Amino acid sequence: MNESPVRHEDETPNYGSYLALDALLALQRPLARPEHPDELLFIVVHQASELWFKVILHELDALVQAMGATDALGAIMVTRRLNALVRIVADQLSALDTLPPRRFAQFRGYLGSSSGSQSAQFRAIEAASGLRDPHFLQAIAEHGPPPEIVQRWLDRPTLQALFQQMLAAKGRTIEQLYSDPDPSELLLLAEDLLEYEQGFARWRFLHVQLVERVIGPGTTGTGGTLGARYLAKTVSQRFFPSLWDVRSRFFTGPPGGR
Ligand code: HEM
Repeated sequence: MNESPVRHEDETPNYGSYLALDALLALQRPLARPEHPDELLFIVVHQASELWFKVILHELDALVQAMGATDALGAIMVTRRLNALVRIVADQLSALDTLPPRRFAQFRGYLGSSSGSQSAQFRAIEAASGLRDPHFLQAIAEHGPPPEIVQRWLDRPTLQALFQQMLAAKGRTIEQLYSDPDPSELLLLAEDLLEYEQGFARWRFLHVQLVERVIGPGTTGTGGTLGARYLAKTVSQRFFPSLWDVRSRFFTGPPGGR
């Protein structure tokens, strides 16, 4: 195992060739004429986000494998990595908070009808994580039949369904899991999955704020939606409703609520 393959001197990778930097750095193609000083940043934040989406989907695949194999520790490891990745994509939105509206208006017209709502990888992440509600399916249908990468995930069980299967394999319910005095691996996994959900909702919230900051709350999007007003509604979408619902059962009953 792990024997280095025999290589000819001229095939040894270096930093640039290993990372395909020539190709990578030729992929930023601003369209505004004359060139706009802010368009490069706009493109790079989107491209970097798509690269991270690619890694997130890769890890979601690993998560599904681990959960399908009832491997709670393995699933916890993957979910922790996923949570780090989601934090990164959310935090990098702040680079575009520095884009003043007047300057974005100077090159926005060059985007045509291109919009983040056409991101197949983003929809695949939502599908993989478990969105199935009509609002989500409608957002996909607006762009024609789902891309293959989205359909593949729509055809697989949701993370919540896999978690329920893991519980069932141990003969437990979510209520019992949260009622146990001692923490268990499955409880830790449930909490990490909830953190994943929170991290994703944080991306949505920061994105709405970015949109309001750059184009204002009432401007329609290049993708034809109501813009920030449409996006604000997506913040409350849930991947794991049962993990949220179980919390209320500890707080039922006391009179005096308003
Ligand atoms: C100046 C910065 C940005 C503005 C003004 C902006 C604006 C918008 C607007 C208005 C929408 C609603 C759809 C539409 O009608 O176009 C949208 C959706 C979306 N944008 Fe952005 N966006 C920005 C940055 C980003 C970045 C950096 C990403 C990272 C990939 C991104 C990803 C998305 C995604 C995935 C959606 C679909 C969200 C959903 O339907 O839940 N956006 N954006």
